[in-house]
Amino acid sequence: MNELLEARGLNAYYGASHVLRGVDFRVGRGETVSLLGRNGMGKTTLLRTLMGLTPSKSGDIRLGGADIRGWRPSAIARAGVGFVPEGRGIFPNLTVEENLVFAAREGADGRRDWTREGIFALFPRLAERRTNWGNQLSGGEQQMLTIGRALMSNPALLMVDEATEGLAPLVRDDIWRTLKLIADKGVAIVVVDKNLDDLKALCRRHVILVKGEVVFEGSTEELAARDDFVRSQLGL
Ligand SMILES: Nc1ncnc2c1ncn2[C@@H]1O[C@H](COP(=O)(O)OP(=O)(O)O)[C@@H](O)[C@H]1O
Ligand SMILES: [Mg+2]
Repeated sequence: MNELLEARGLNAYYGASHVLRGVDFRVGRGETVSLLGRNGMGKTTLLRTLMGLTPSKSGDIRLGGADIRGWRPSAIARAGVGFVPEGRGIFPNLTVEENLVFAAREGADGRRDWTREGIFALFPRLAERRTNWGNQLSGGEQQMLTIGRALMSNPALLMVDEATEGLAPLVRDDIWRTLKLIADKGVAIVVVDKNLDDLKALCRRHVILVKGEVVFEGSTEELAARDDFVRSQLGL
């Protein structure tokens, strides 16, 4: 597959603690990849390192062939990576509509696939709340808005950390359905979540991190074939 993002031998530390240990991670154009692992295994750190939010001490990160390691997060975003961090982070004192408009930008390749109306079509609940303030939204609506906001920059890759954590089951289903629609539009997705079945339904490839090292990388079929190993690594 035509690679979009390719990281090799990534090492990252928090102080003396070695958190990413030689991680290789790749995402093809339009590919859907899950990032799995128990709490504290380095999933968030990997996403933050790819986004330029956490420094990597060594390794290589390429986006569309360009060497982006050491770039500022804003430059990585402009180059085509949208990030939905754990715990969201919308502007509470802007309306839903303003949160979206504020983030609008053409994609790195000049695409303008995602508009405010496109986001409202994707998330009808946000359309109903377009004049509400960010701080008046439910947890699920905030997550929808954070995803919508990331899409407004027309990213080639969307990275979603803890996609459905803390959300009610029906809202979770909404998020999964929407991520599928986004993937169907050709946006590559990396998603961290706890629900293995939902991840298997959405993603074509899966990566398991244990203590900052990749212990499994393979297709949904390969993941299913090693169910016992996978469940033990995930503590399920
Ligand atoms: N800001 C930080 N400072 C120090 N240690 C951190 C920080 N963030 C995470 N860690 C540690 O790094 C390891 C990986 O954390 P994290 O990437 O958040 O894992 P995950 O997302 O898989 O739960 C954990 O041991 C965690 O305690
Ligand atoms: Mg995390």
